[in-house]
Amino acid sequence: MDFTVRKLTPNVGAEISGLDLRQPLDPATMAEVRKVWLDNVVVVIPEQPIDDEQQIAFSRQVGALELINMSALQMPGRPEIYGATNLDENDELMPPDHPVMQVNHDNRKWHSDSSFKHVPAMASLLHARIVPPVGGDTAYANMAAAYEALADDMKAKLEGLVAVHNFYWSRRNVKVTAFTQAETSALPPTRHPVVRRHPETGRRALYVGSHTESIEGMEWDEGRALIDGLIEHATQPEFVYQHAWRVGDLVWWDNRAALHCGMPFDITRHKRRLHRTTVAGTGPTL
Ligand SMILES: [Fe+2]
Repeated sequence: MDFTVRKLTPNVGAEISGLDLRQPLDPATMAEVRKVWLDNVVVVIPEQPIDDEQQIAFSRQVGALELINMSALQMPGRPEIYGATNLDENDELMPPDHPVMQVNHDNRKWHSDSSFKHVPAMASLLHARIVPPVGGDTAYANMAAAYEALADDMKAKLEGLVAVHNFYWSRRNVKVTAFTQAETSALPPTRHPVVRRHPETGRRALYVGSHTESIEGMEWDEGRALIDGLIEHATQPEFVYQHAWRVGDLVWWDNRAALHCGMPFDITRHKRRLHRTTVAGTGPTL
């Protein structure tokens, strides 16, 4: 299948036109598309009138799916789909104090999906079903480009450092729990390298975000200053692509080389429904 590629910024993001994801891609096309994805970290595939089954099928061409195991965020009867939405199952607005809304709110912090897991996610794919008239963009930062831009002495300082990631650190201000006790106990803090070597490209990337709680062997304050400083560095405009959603957009990103964050919109007036599938990582990072 022929497709065209347009870079969205110099450092991150490409748009692919000419694909129809209602049908499986043939292996040769899939290999070419995957190369574009690996090179650009984030790929936008617009105008895809796909349903959940078709999104799941395409995501399985990327890799085996990860189930997030947080029932409050999964679509009833379709655990592969994470509803990134301010709407209930009848597409009515949820109140801002709803537990799910509180959890969603913290997706506005820069993060890599599932970095709080021992085997974190490889990829995420978000498909836009309902979008607000203004706001609600998603921003993506290329963590490999950000790593490469660091000074040599900082790269040396980061060599061999290990960070602790913890979902309940990034959600520490959520007062009403949206999770069951079993779901909470299933997510203990986990360890990942601060600089990750990409298993497919070999490129090295920073791997810290809002789920990163501390740095092993470092005083708390020093570790926090390092984590926050690296996130601030990596999310400068030169490393970032900000996506304004249109209905039908499928955005597919590499969690091994990108941070992302949701941007605000008026959740009390405007509806948004994005459906996410998550592709599992292939093994532990250490
Ligand atoms: Fe996310």
